[in-house]
Amino acid sequence: MKHFDDIKGFAFDLDGVLADTAKFHSQAWQQIAEELKIPWTPELESGIKGIDRMSSLMLILNSAGVADNYTEEQKEALAKRKNDHYQELIGTLTPDDVLPGMRKFLDELKANHLSMSIASASKNAPFILEKLAISDYFVGVVDPSKVKEGKPAPDIFAEAAKILNADPTTVIGLEDSAAGIASINAADEISVGIGDKGLLHEAKINFPSTADVTLAKVRSHLNW
Ligand code: G6P
Ligand code: MG
Repeated sequence: MKHFDDIKGFAFDLDGVLADTAKFHSQAWQQIAEELKIPWTPELESGIKGIDRMSSLMLILNSAGVADNYTEEQKEALAKRKNDHYQELIGTLTPDDVLPGMRKFLDELKANHLSMSIASASKNAPFILEKLAISDYFVGVVDPSKVKEGKPAPDIFAEAAKILNADPTTVIGLEDSAAGIASINAADEISVGIGDKGLLHEAKINFPSTADVTLAKVRSHLNW
């Protein structure tokens, strides 16, 4: 069992953990679903969190059993259209869109010389970090196009530990998605779930919202 003093660094998911952008992914996909006459459900709302762009589209098409009605080319075009709309939405981000409590948490980690990396499935992550003016906190950002498998596979969080130059068991991963918690656990890191505990029950530590996350609370969960 890890003690807090063993911890070397933190690997952060981005959408829904640092940035208030999960709502934009949802909004952009809902527009596509509506055009395709596919009903939007709570399962889709949580299911698209953490998984890559094409997997999200497949989840949506499969929910209505219509994946085979589209050619690869048509699927690529739908995913591109979603991303174009998403990029319009994230173009409006400002430093105020860092989720509540998280800038303070990043400052706490920095003051305690704990290093940080980004473990997001999003190809838009570097752009969002710039818009939020938080790029400088991180020693590196995982490039999701360079890993073999997306979340829930361990690859993205394993790569985030490498960027931190730390053994995975000394890394704490923060996530708002079930796929992301599975990725952290599979990478043998310590998982922190932020959001609905029912959906994130596989996390080692749970917080109801980003505003609840403090270094003292993480520490108290690990020291016993
Ligand atoms: C994050 C989000 C997912 C999104 C994925 C890919 O993990 O939680 O909802 O599908 O990133 O994002 P991208 O910006 O590359 O389409
Ligand atoms: Mg997320």
